[in-house]
Amino acid sequence: MRLSHDELKELMKNKLKKAGLSEEHADMTADVLVWSDERGYHSHGSVRMEYYSERIAKGGITTAPKFDYQVTGPCSGVLDADNGIGYVGAIVGMERAIEMAKENGIAVVGVKNISHSGAIGYYVEMAAKAGLVAVSMCQSDPMAVPYGGTEPFYGTNPIAFGAPTADDRNVVFDMATTVQAWGKILDKRSRNEQIPDDWAVDEKGRPVTDPNKVNALVPISGAKGYGLMMMVDVLSGIMLGLPFGKHVSSMYHDLSEGRNLGHIHIVMDPSRFTDMQSFRKNMSTVLDELGAMQPAEGNSKVYYPGERALLRKEKQYAEGGIEIVDDIYNYLISEDVHYDRYDHKNRFAD
Ligand code: NAI
Repeated sequence: MRLSHDELKELMKNKLKKAGLSEEHADMTADVLVWSDERGYHSHGSVRMEYYSERIAKGGITTAPKFDYQVTGPCSGVLDADNGIGYVGAIVGMERAIEMAKENGIAVVGVKNISHSGAIGYYVEMAAKAGLVAVSMCQSDPMAVPYGGTEPFYGTNPIAFGAPTADDRNVVFDMATTVQAWGKILDKRSRNEQIPDDWAVDEKGRPVTDPNKVNALVPISGAKGYGLMMMVDVLSGIMLGLPFGKHVSSMYHDLSEGRNLGHIHIVMDPSRFTDMQSFRKNMSTVLDELGAMQPAEGNSKVYYPGERALLRKEKQYAEGGIEIVDDIYNYLISEDVHYDRYDHKNRFAD
């Protein structure tokens, strides 16, 4: 099934409202979810709708949260999002950070007590569109072994970076700090296929190729990715006074409780460091020079971070709209809020 931006957004918005979110929160959440689906990040789009709806309906996401934003210094602030839907907390936190960075040059805004905030490239793109540079990071539930370890300890703790150019391109680099997302393991299980031996490990920390034997994911680039996931947890968890490391709440443990996750936005105004026009011009030059490079054998082009997502978006619209699998479409058009499928599910279950 192919849907336009507005059709998909409306369906998701209606479902979120039916589950209990306000018009405004449903609208903001659906906007990020469509952003993900249209860029081909389907693992962070409408596929998550049933889970969110179940969590909202069971009380694990506060439907009318009382946001408490405290400015803690000229360049710092903390938003306590009262375990409202993660997307809204992350958007509001970024809005505050953009305002503060425009005023004071730099802003570090922590968002605490939120639920899952999805594809975090959305938030750094907000800053890039406002002519600012941003880094954003958040916690997620423990799924990855520390380098050399045997137990899931850190989440897939993503990092995103966004920057504007002199034209309509924005750099949006947006990655999990694990080699693969858990969704890819599930996909391989469902297809009865093996996984490469650098994606995951068993209970003894040994590489596995059978997706059914996975006990934990592994960090990108060994010890270096492990260091990055720790950095994300320190900045978006420990520094905000939240549960950290293996104590971070699990996505499926108890859907009636708030997740108390953390997210941090660091936003900088390039004009405080250099001339803004030359910053933008040089950013465009970099992207042009990368794109003009002779690609290595087997590659069609050198892409800048975020470019392939934009090409996927263009392609989907050229082919008639955002591609949504039938099961998800049928759920979205149904009268049902959820089918009680996620509560107390093991994090490594299907
Ligand atoms: P990915 O591996 O598809 O891409 C990572 C980055 O590398 C992107 O910025 C992409 O533009 C760039 N890239 C990929 N291939 C490229 C190429 N050939 N040339 C140039 N650049 C290239 O993304 P990943 O790591 O699978 O993450 C997917 C999404 O999941 C992200 O939106 C992330 O924010 C989200 N996520 C969210 C979590 C949460 O708890 N909120 C946890 C983990 C991931």
